[in-house]
Amino acid sequence: MDKIILITTPLYYVNADPHIGHAYTQVAADTLARYWRQRGREVHLLTGTDEHGEKILRAARQINKDVKEFVDEGAEKFKKLWEKLNINYDQFIRTTDKIHIDTVNKVLYTLYEKGLIYKGDYSGLYCVPCETFFTPSQAEENLCPDCGRELESLSQESYFFKLSAFKDKLLRHIEENPDFIMPGSRKNEIKGFLAGELKDLSISRLDVEWGIKLPFDSRHTVYVWVDALLNYISAPGYLNEQQCFRDLWPADMQLLGKDIIKFHAVIWPAMLMALNLPLPGTVFAHGWWTSEGKKMSKSLGNVVDPAQAADEWGVDALRYYLLRQVTFGQDGDFSKSRFKERYDTELANELGNLLSRVLSMIEKYRPNASSVSPEGLDLTVEAALGNLDKLYRKADFSAILDIIWDLIKKANSYVEQSKPWILAKEDPGKLGCVLANLFRVLRAVGWLIYPFMPSASGQVFEQLGISPACVDDIKWNKEISFNSINKGEPLFPKK
Ligand code: MSP
Repeated sequence: MDKIILITTPLYYVNADPHIGHAYTQVAADTLARYWRQRGREVHLLTGTDEHGEKILRAARQINKDVKEFVDEGAEKFKKLWEKLNINYDQFIRTTDKIHIDTVNKVLYTLYEKGLIYKGDYSGLYCVPCETFFTPSQAEENLCPDCGRELESLSQESYFFKLSAFKDKLLRHIEENPDFIMPGSRKNEIKGFLAGELKDLSISRLDVEWGIKLPFDSRHTVYVWVDALLNYISAPGYLNEQQCFRDLWPADMQLLGKDIIKFHAVIWPAMLMALNLPLPGTVFAHGWWTSEGKKMSKSLGNVVDPAQAADEWGVDALRYYLLRQVTFGQDGDFSKSRFKERYDTELANELGNLLSRVLSMIEKYRPNASSVSPEGLDLTVEAALGNLDKLYRKADFSAILDIIWDLIKKANSYVEQSKPWILAKEDPGKLGCVLANLFRVLRAVGWLIYPFMPSASGQVFEQLGISPACVDDIKWNKEISFNSINKGEPLFPKK
């Protein structure tokens, strides 16, 4: 039996409202999950919220809210958005869940017993918004090298994880597993980072009240990143090492943004090695979105609200734009004018029109579906289907969409070249063949767009009057009938 595919997203901090960056990872994860389910694989999509630490506590205090109430509301905001964006996750873990807290305790106790955690003194700088430690040499003028905000000085007793002990093993793993860190640019970044000195990691703080206490010294609170990373094994059931854990772990694809690659490609795998657990297949770091050419910020007022964008353009169009506009792994810019251009050209004209014109012609001419000659379209469909697994494994959404749109464009040119409106008068036999070919292309397109645009895919099938259950149902030679077509509303109405 095939392994259950485990796909993970980062746990989102609950102190801020969800924005387009969060929606991006989520849409990517959902698209991958839908594809593998469509191929008959069992998938577990894990997501959730990061709820401990000083940043969250301060945010709750600022609005005089009880912190538990604050995080409960925060988690709900994310759940609500995922529902709106048609994100079909299987598990939502919160770092305040008991199973998670118990797992963190178990892991830290195990590492302590193994001698991989020791007590020392930490002296250095800390960025609360990023929840990250820095040495004075990493920071200019006391400012965070990542977010530019002011750093705080820390000097206190702390427990350390022997991260340095894993440096060579990590480098070896990266060398031996070319798909472990994707894309290649991030892999090089991590290799460069590991080429320098790898310091042990401070994993506890004395002065943070909101968090999990160290099981062997309750004066200390677990560093939020160590707490949060462990969700990836607490959620699948590491606590009792149940069968479900063995079925799910290791994760096949861990998605995250480039800003948190070091946590996921250095600290996280080292923790797994320390626990003698296998490492994830791929850690994929996507790029960052700007908005209309500028970094998104509350003060500039240019933060893209995914719920609002979905209301304006439709959920499917938003999902499409996010995965179409930039090659996954690179940075991108969210721009209304480019969104509109893609919506009008690719969704409304190329895809929407193809469906509506083909169905209109079938309704109007009522030909007999015949299969005399596929005129090369069969090969394009088969080639598209044959390439998908490889591309989805690499999360290469751009290449997949290129293949789908190549097919759509070919079908549109085929309409122009074969001129069914003339065939209707001159060659009814040929007309039946042309429209049958186009019906077959649309059947495949409905299938191919499903992971990206699940509702539009459903509408295509509804209008074609079919309900394919598996890939065999859309293969070129599978019989068709024009009898159940049901031309409906335009897929992507003009804005
Ligand atoms: N809580 C940590 C993750 C812990 S995972 C064990 C965290 N949370 S976050 O809410 O700040 O960020 C979550 C994700 O959103 C990150 O992957 C980050 O890269 C992504 N993004 C935040 N802003 C973004 C953009 N402007 N564009 C794209 N992704 C962005 O980090």
